[in-house]
Amino acid sequence: MKEQLKDGLSRIKQGEEPDKETLKMLVAGNDEEINGTLISMADETRRKYYGNKVYMRGLIEFSNFCKRNCKYCGIRGKNSKAERYRLNKDEIIGCCANGYDMGYRTFVLQGGEDSYYSDEIMVDIISSIKGAFQDVVVTLSIGEKSEKTYRSYYEAGADRYLIRHETASPSLYDAVHENMHLKSRLECLYSLKRIGYQIGAGFMVGLPGQTDDDLAHDLLLLMKMQPHMVGIGPFIPHADTPFRDFPKGDVDKTVRMIALSRLMVPKALIPATTALGTADAFGRERGLMAGANVVMPNLSPMEDRSKYMLYDNKLCMGEESAECTATIRDKIESAGYELDMSRGDHIDWRKKQ
Ligand code: 5AD
Repeated sequence: MKEQLKDGLSRIKQGEEPDKETLKMLVAGNDEEINGTLISMADETRRKYYGNKVYMRGLIEFSNFCKRNCKYCGIRGKNSKAERYRLNKDEIIGCCANGYDMGYRTFVLQGGEDSYYSDEIMVDIISSIKGAFQDVVVTLSIGEKSEKTYRSYYEAGADRYLIRHETASPSLYDAVHENMHLKSRLECLYSLKRIGYQIGAGFMVGLPGQTDDDLAHDLLLLMKMQPHMVGIGPFIPHADTPFRDFPKGDVDKTVRMIALSRLMVPKALIPATTALGTADAFGRERGLMAGANVVMPNLSPMEDRSKYMLYDNKLCMGEESAECTATIRDKIESAGYELDMSRGDHIDWRKKQ
C-alpha cells in the first residue's frame, strides 16, 4: 500500500495523471508518513518555480448583494438577515489608493452577483483603476457572466478572474446550488481562459455530502484545466443558511488538497485562504508549508468588513487585514519566506510579455 502511494506521488510529480484509486487514498491521508512526504514534495515544487516568495493581493469586497442562492454561503440572496452594502466607484478607488500606498499592486474586486453593476459600470470601475494607478493588476471575482461581458471587462483592463468551480461532481454541484450547473461554471472558466485572463479555479473541502471520490475529481479537473490560480478552503457553516448544522471541513484534508494541487498544477498561484485561517489558528502557515504562495489581506472599508460574512466568524481583522501588512510581513518572513508585493503574475505569463 505504502509503495503504491509513494509510486503514485512520484508519478504525479512527473506530470502523470494518477489513477483514481491511488489519488483517493492520498486524499484520505491515512498514512502519516505519506502525508509528510506529500507536504514536503509540494513545498519543493513551489520552491522550484516561485522560490520562497509569498505574493500579496489586496482584497476589496465591494458588494454583498447576490442574486444566487448557494446553500453554503452567508450572502445568498435569500438570507434576509444579511445586512447588504455596495461600494461605488469612488469608494472602490479609495480602497485601491489605500492599498497602493501600502505597496499592493494587485487588487481583487470580489462581490456577490449584484446586477446593480451593469457592464457599463464595471467597465468604468476597471478602467478608472487602471488609469489611476501605475502597473497594477485588477482581478475580478464576481461570478458567472456572458463571454461578451467577460470580454468587455478584459478590454477595460481586467487581468485575472477568480471563479471557483466549487466542486467537480455534477450531482454534488446541483445539490449545493440552486438553479446552477457545473457545466455553465466550467464554460465560464474556459471562456475566460480563451479571452486571455489568468484564471483561478478551486473548490471547498468538506461540503455536506462530499466524498473523497468527489475530491479526487476536483484534482483531476484542475490537472486537466491547468488554471493559473487555485483557491481551496474548508467549508465552514453559516448560521443563516440551509447548511447551518453541518460540520466544517477537515483542516488536515484541506492542507493535503493544497499540496496535491501544487503537485498537479505545479506553477499555480495558490492562496492560503481566509477560510483555512478561520478554521485553524495556524491554517495560513500550514497552507504555505504545503505549497501555497499567496495571501490576500482585506482592503475593504472597515465598517463593511463584517457584513461580507460568507461563513460564521470569517476573519477580516488582525492578520487578515491590510492595515496589518507589517505584522503579516514579520510573520511570513520569520517563517522563512520572502514577502513579494509586486504584480506576482503566473511564471509562464511573465515570459510571454
Ligand atoms: N465556507 C467556506 N467557503 C465558502 N465560500 C462561500 N461560502 C463558503 C462557506 N460557507 C467560498 C466559495 C466562493 C468563495 C468566494 O468563498 O468557494 O467561491
